[in-house]
Amino acid sequence: MDPIETLSAQEPVAHSGVRFDPAGLTEEAADVLSSILQNSRYESATRLPLSGGNRWYSEPIRLAKFITGGVNCWKESPCQNLYTALLEREKGPAPTMLFDLFFFYRNVALDRISKVIDARSLRTLENAGILSLSDNTVKSKVRCYPVRGNYFLCDPSRNQSDFVYIGWDSHLMVDIAAKYCKGRHFSRSLDLCTGSGVQGISLARQSEESFCADINPRALAMVQANSRLNKLTTVRAVQSNLFLNIQGRFDCITANTPYVPHPVGAELPIGGGDIGIEFTIRLLRELPDRLTKNGISVIYTSDPIVSGKRQLIAQVTSELGHLPLRVILIPLFTNNYPMTRPMQEHYDQLDLSGYDDCILVIQWDNKFQVEQHQHDWIHYYRTRVDAWLDWRRRSHKRRTAFPPSYCNL
Ligand SMILES: C[S@@+](CC[C@H](N)C(=O)[O-])C[C@H]1O[C@@H](n2cnc3c(N)ncnc32)[C@H](O)[C@@H]1O
Repeated sequence: MDPIETLSAQEPVAHSGVRFDPAGLTEEAADVLSSILQNSRYESATRLPLSGGNRWYSEPIRLAKFITGGVNCWKESPCQNLYTALLEREKGPAPTMLFDLFFFYRNVALDRISKVIDARSLRTLENAGILSLSDNTVKSKVRCYPVRGNYFLCDPSRNQSDFVYIGWDSHLMVDIAAKYCKGRHFSRSLDLCTGSGVQGISLARQSEESFCADINPRALAMVQANSRLNKLTTVRAVQSNLFLNIQGRFDCITANTPYVPHPVGAELPIGGGDIGIEFTIRLLRELPDRLTKNGISVIYTSDPIVSGKRQLIAQVTSELGHLPLRVILIPLFTNNYPMTRPMQEHYDQLDLSGYDDCILVIQWDNKFQVEQHQHDWIHYYRTRVDAWLDWRRRSHKRRTAFPPSYCNL
């Protein structure tokens, strides 16, 4: 996760009223919703950035992404209106209108939305608990996110502890897993820490049987709704603490783990332990007993820097170094130093200076070996520079604003 840049994208204005119940998504509502999204070319709207931010120097990159059909919607731009106008000229008003409703979680005027959703479909989606209509405006109770031809329902806000999450990391991982699993066919696949099911469902057409597992019962209900929305019948949702309720081996194991450094015991579905990788290491300990001979595993995690040293590969080697495995490390981006005072304190206590988001791809081989692959090196090094500038700016502020115990960076 890229907390500084993406939190605003993930924290829409809280809505009053009952939240979406995934069990309410009937076959009829799923058909109506998926045909509206498909007919409107909804996926093109991920090219739109959020409004805000002041990083003018990243604008050429965003514009290039927009032109080439890349994903901007997790980043802010001071000229969002320009992108909206360009997209409307190219695709008409439908994708931006639906993105306002289902991604930005905004109220949309009924007469505006009626150009894309007819009265009968509006009623069906209202009865399914997806939309609420009042005072000639329509709002959504759920976020709907498009990835590689599928649609995923998830919670639009984090204001309940069992929220089901989709973020920029989810999308990146779907793309990278697709690349490394290209051309493979699985008889059994498993997506641990499945959340909305985004990883498992994205690979489900390559698998005879797909298991999506999470500790959170709301996530499992969301997996079932998302399987319905994407017309998949081979996906099974399983409640499990890591591998606890899961039997056997798998040809493909994916996991977008909780990996953010956070004091142990925090009730966050994204907190991975003190330095962030404790959860991932627990998973890796069991992985060799769960992966078939030709199996592949794709794991999203973090690479924390403690006392100036990167931790991930050292710990992976200490856990798995005796086994004939090929481990590929793919660094994705560097995160800014935390903004809140308790988190700064936590970082300082552990001498943790930051972490990268990264992906591990693990397969059996002749001997243990580690290699590094690049995903988008321009983005990676740009975020390293951003994080360094941010750290300098904030450590200067802290030196002047905080008591001496905060000034040891
Ligand atoms: C970062 S989210 C990833 C969600 C989804 N896979 C994605 O890519 O968007 C981490 C998920 O791990 C789940 N989780 C946390 N602790 C778990 C555990 N002990 N066993 C299984 N799942 C767990 C959370 O409920 C959450 O859905």
